[in-house]
Amino acid sequence: MYSLQFAAPSHGSPITFTDSLFSDDFQRKLAHWNHCRLAPQFPQGDWMTTLDDDTHMLRVEGAFLEALRAHVADAVADVPTEPGAFVCWFEDLAQTGPGQHDPLFPWLAAHATRDEIRWFFEQEAAGEAGFDDLVALTQVKLPDAAKLELARNYWDEMGRGNAKGMHGPMLQIVADALAVNPSIDTTVGESLALANAMTAMATSRRYAWHSVGALGVIELTAPGRSALVAQGLRRIGLNDRERRYFDLHAVLDVKHSEDWNREALYPLVSEDPRRAVAIAEGALMRLECGKRCFARYRAHLWNGQSATTLVTH
Ligand SMILES: [Fe+2]
Ligand SMILES: [Fe+2]
Repeated sequence: MYSLQFAAPSHGSPITFTDSLFSDDFQRKLAHWNHCRLAPQFPQGDWMTTLDDDTHMLRVEGAFLEALRAHVADAVADVPTEPGAFVCWFEDLAQTGPGQHDPLFPWLAAHATRDEIRWFFEQEAAGEAGFDDLVALTQVKLPDAAKLELARNYWDEMGRGNAKGMHGPMLQIVADALAVNPSIDTTVGESLALANAMTAMATSRRYAWHSVGALGVIELTAPGRSALVAQGLRRIGLNDRERRYFDLHAVLDVKHSEDWNREALYPLVSEDPRRAVAIAEGALMRLECGKRCFARYRAHLWNGQSATTLVTH
């Protein structure tokens, strides 16, 4: 039974975008529900009760996404719908999108202690929704060119059939090396909100194009952050094997992003220009969640101090 303090909104009464949308309590309940509902299960006698609970939670989840969507509406108002111009607009997000060039990452690379990096990693890992599964969920019934690109990306996530090359287990190697045990109950709401938003977009076909945008913008923006995290991990003594997840994504996601934009975004927008707005909204919703994560991490790790103060001490 999942009961949220946040009542499921009735028709026509949206949840508005406020800080409470990212509260630890609200997002933890959504995260626990996602964890349970996506787990492989056996048939159960009380499945009708579970369906009733799921319906409530789907309304709450939908309202959460709609609040995020309303928040980015102005920023997508004049997004180009010609496919070439759209891909340029999308690629610009690497420089101009919410949360880009956050000072947290150079600090992690050069200054954070082992315990500070452990806390950061624990937050990121518990909020990780599983890129491989998100891609698999998103590709259902997509047009051929985009489906093929998502398949290639998924195959890379699967280590091209080699267990040692699978990205999910590679992330677990970092967790083991840092001796962290990520848990929903010790993860901040912002990090869970990011995972919950990604899961919501990938599991609901209403947001299929949003999910393509949100996943694509991860590929676009991850390499820079991955490289800085890898530097931090090297500095505190993790070896090549232990840091491999971050070293790999610093390089591989540059190619993934180019391929995604050319093979998925371009043909999708060529076929139907309305998809440009949906893809753009999904990308900005993901970046907005990321920006809030970085701010929350800094508030915790820096205790209200600025980067300049921290670095000069
Ligand atoms: Fe990956
Ligand atoms: Fe990737």
